[in-house]
Amino acid sequence: MLEGKTALVTGAAGDLGNAMAMHLAKNGASVIMWDVKPVDGAGDRIATVQEFDSTVTYQQIDVRDRSAVDDAIASIDTLDIVCSNAGIVDAQPFLEVTQENWQNHLDINLTGCFNVCQSAARKMVADETQGRIILTSSWVSSIPWPEITPYTVSKAGVNMLTKQMARELSTYGIRVNAIAPGIVKAGLAGRQLREEPQYAARVAKVIPLGDPGTPTEIAEAVVYLASPQTAYMTGSILTLDGGCSLFQFDE
Ligand SMILES: NC(=O)c1ccc[n+]([C@@H]2O[C@H](COP(=O)([O-])OP(=O)(O)OC[C@H]3O[C@@H](n4cnc5c(N)ncnc54)[C@H](O)[C@@H]3O)[C@@H](O)[C@H]2O)c1
Repeated sequence: MLEGKTALVTGAAGDLGNAMAMHLAKNGASVIMWDVKPVDGAGDRIATVQEFDSTVTYQQIDVRDRSAVDDAIASIDTLDIVCSNAGIVDAQPFLEVTQENWQNHLDINLTGCFNVCQSAARKMVADETQGRIILTSSWVSSIPWPEITPYTVSKAGVNMLTKQMARELSTYGIRVNAIAPGIVKAGLAGRQLREEPQYAARVAKVIPLGDPGTPTEIAEAVVYLASPQTAYMTGSILTLDGGCSLFQFDE
C-alpha cells in the first residue's frame, strides 16, 4: 500500500515509534528512523524494521535541535510521510512541578513536533509532495490526568498544532492528523505501570474495554492515516483509548 513512499518516524527507538516504523515498512514504505538514542543503543530496534523488505536508515537526532532537524530533512530525497512521535513523561504532582520538568515537556513534546513538522512541511511544499503528517498526541490531551500537568498541556498543544497545520497546509494538499493513544502497556505508560504503584491503581479503574492497548494497534492506525483510504481526512485527532476518555461510571 505504501510502496515508493518514504516515511520518517521520530522516537523510533521507543516502543510506539518502533512499532510505527515496522508497520510502515511492512506496508512497503522506506523508513527513516530518528531518535535521540545513539545507533548502538537502538540496534535491536533497527533490526526489527529491517526484517521487512524495505530500505531502513537510522539517525541520532534530537528533535529539540532545529538546525540538526533542518539539515537531516534537507538531505532526504523525497519525504512523503512524517510521524512526529518522540515524547517524554515525568510525573510530578502539580505543586512540585519544577521549571526544568515543565520546560523539558514543552521542548520535546511540543517544540520538537513544531521543529520536525514545520521543517518537513517546508520540504513537502518545495517538492510539491502532497504528504501526510501524523503527530502522536494522547487521550490525556483533553483529560486532566493526575500528576502530569506538563505532559497533558504539551499534548493539548500538539492537538492545536495538528489542526493549525491542517488548515494552513491543505492549500498544498498536505494532510495533517494526530493519533491519540490511550494507556498502552509499553513505552511511557508501560514504565509508569511498572514503577508507579499509584498509576497502576488508577489505570485499573479507567479503561472501559478492560485492558491497556498495544503498540501494534497504534501503529496500524498510523498506517491507516498514511494510506490512500484517508485522503479526505485532515485536522482529525484519532483516539484509540479503549473508551478511557468516555465519562467514567463508578459501578
Ligand atoms: N505508551 C503510552 O501509553 C502512550 C500513550 C499516549 C501517548 N503516547 C505517546 O507516544 C509517543 C511515544 O512514546 P512511547 O510510549 O513509545 O515511549 P518510549 O519512551 O518507548 O519512546 C519515546 C522515544 O522518544 C525518544 N526521545 C525522547 N526525547 C527525544 C528527543 N529530544 N529527540 C528525539 N527522540 C527523543 C526516546 O529516546 C524514546 O526512544 C510519545 O509522544 C508519547 O507521549 C504514549
